[in-house]
Amino acid sequence: MKHEICKVDDIPPTGSMIASFFGREIHVWRSGERIRAAANVCLHFGGPLDCKDGRLVCQWHGASFDMASGDRLDGPAPKGSRLMFLSTRVEDGALNYVWGE
Ligand code: FES
Repeated sequence: MKHEICKVDDIPPTGSMIASFFGREIHVWRSGERIRAAANVCLHFGGPLDCKDGRLVCQWHGASFDMASGDRLDGPAPKGSRLMFLSTRVEDGALNYVWGE
């Protein structure tokens, strides 16, 4: 399965952008040479995340996650929890979600 998320040129050089993903929201950002995509869902109670200073920070109770590793840094999300990254591949100038290939 392959599903286009966005054009690579639309992804900002810093910070993140919100993209639509089958009716849900995801964050998409550049991390060094890589492009990462993760569900806009906190691992505590599912709150939405804001991009702040290299972290994704939950609007509801302040849990924060490292944007490079996805690891929980602090706040009430469970220790050891990690952002829900999507499996992606860049092809023909687009970032695609890929599954089962
Ligand atoms: S829902 Fe994100 S910290 Fe509570």
